Amino acid sequence: MPVSFRAKNTVGSTTLAITARAKELKAQGHDVVSFAAGEPDFDTPDFIKKAAIDAIQNGLTKYTPSSGTIELRQAIANKFQRDNQLSYNPKDQIVVSCGAKHSLYTLMQALVDAGDEVLIPAPFWVSYPEMVKLAGATPKILETCEKTKFKITARQLEENISPSTKVLIINSPSNPTGTVYTRKELESIAAVCVKRNIVVVSDEIYEKLCYANEPFVSIGSLGKDIYNLTVTVNGVSKAYAMTGWRIGYLGASKEIAQSVAKIQDHSTSNPTSISQAAALAALNADESTLNAMKEEFRKRRDFIVKCLDQIPQIDYIYPEGAFYVFCNISKTGLDSDTIAKKVLDEKDVACIPGSSFGADDYIRLGFATSMERIEEGTRRLAEWFQNNQRG
Ligand SMILES: Cc1ncc(COP(=O)(O)O)c(C=O)c1O
Repeated sequence: MPVSFRAKNTVGSTTLAITARAKELKAQGHDVVSFAAGEPDFDTPDFIKKAAIDAIQNGLTKYTPSSGTIELRQAIANKFQRDNQLSYNPKDQIVVSCGAKHSLYTLMQALVDAGDEVLIPAPFWVSYPEMVKLAGATPKILETCEKTKFKITARQLEENISPSTKVLIINSPSNPTGTVYTRKELESIAAVCVKRNIVVVSDEIYEKLCYANEPFVSIGSLGKDIYNLTVTVNGVSKAYAMTGWRIGYLGASKEIAQSVAKIQDHSTSNPTSISQAAALAALNADESTLNAMKEEFRKRRDFIVKCLDQIPQIDYIYPEGAFYVFCNISKTGLDSDTIAKKVLDEKDVACIPGSSFGADDYIRLGFATSMERIEEGTRRLAEWFQNNQRG
């Protein structure tokens, strides 16, 4: 086969595969309820679209600096300061990329080498282990359980650090569990990372979708030492319903940010100039549209858990952030791939098997869909689970 070991060693995205199959069924005329999506169902707000149209008409259609326009990097620096109490110099500590996925991919290329280990708490977002492998390093999975709401503890972290450990990835709020780390939990994790000199990659892409009363906490804001070790990754996809625009960004020490920038110089160059203008408008606006979307997600979260409470075969961890409910299906005695396939084939309901996230006793239901569809989809799931009880 004329392909590299690297390509052979990379696992395809199940999330994208299930979404494609659900689309196929829809095209054949099936009334598919999709809980598979990893993106808001809202349209991008009009003022953001207008900024992009203006950018086209005003000729902002050329290359920009590879790390993003200085205006956008300044808006990101302001956002980091305002929302996260993080000070990054827009000139050399911020890099804008083609989505947070791209920020994370390039970051791994910049941080690790063969022989390095990257700690990834499970359940994890599907792309983390693959990105680590693509950088030649080794993902080391830290198993968590429902008892700790799928969060790692400082003690567990410390016990798993070896001389090869270089990086820890933290994703709060989490995809797929919706779990959010508290300030206290982050403080104890930060203390271990500082003591053992571990770089923290903090994926904060769901920051704006936190439903708890406590304010969201960025681990990098918890002191000078942890600030120096942390790379804060975020983007406009989830907060502003801008998944297709492909704008993500990171803030880091000058050395790390400039290493990422060098790699980006030789791969994508700048993210689309027009999308950058749109992201600038998004980040500089007040948060009223963003809050309206968040309130709608909160209502849906409350509604979907109420519906799931009617299905005795399903348990779940109450999601405090993002737009996913991670459902324990172990009472069925079936693995997650089988369930995801069967509910799609037999009930036209699309969900993502937990196997993709390193947790085979679970399925992920995304609630970025309307109340009516949530009601209809969970009704079908209730029927399916009722008819497929163990024994
Ligand atoms: C945890 C997590 N990180 C990063 C991303 C990437 O987001 P984007 O590349 O759209 O900015 C996603 C998208 O699904 C995600 O769930």
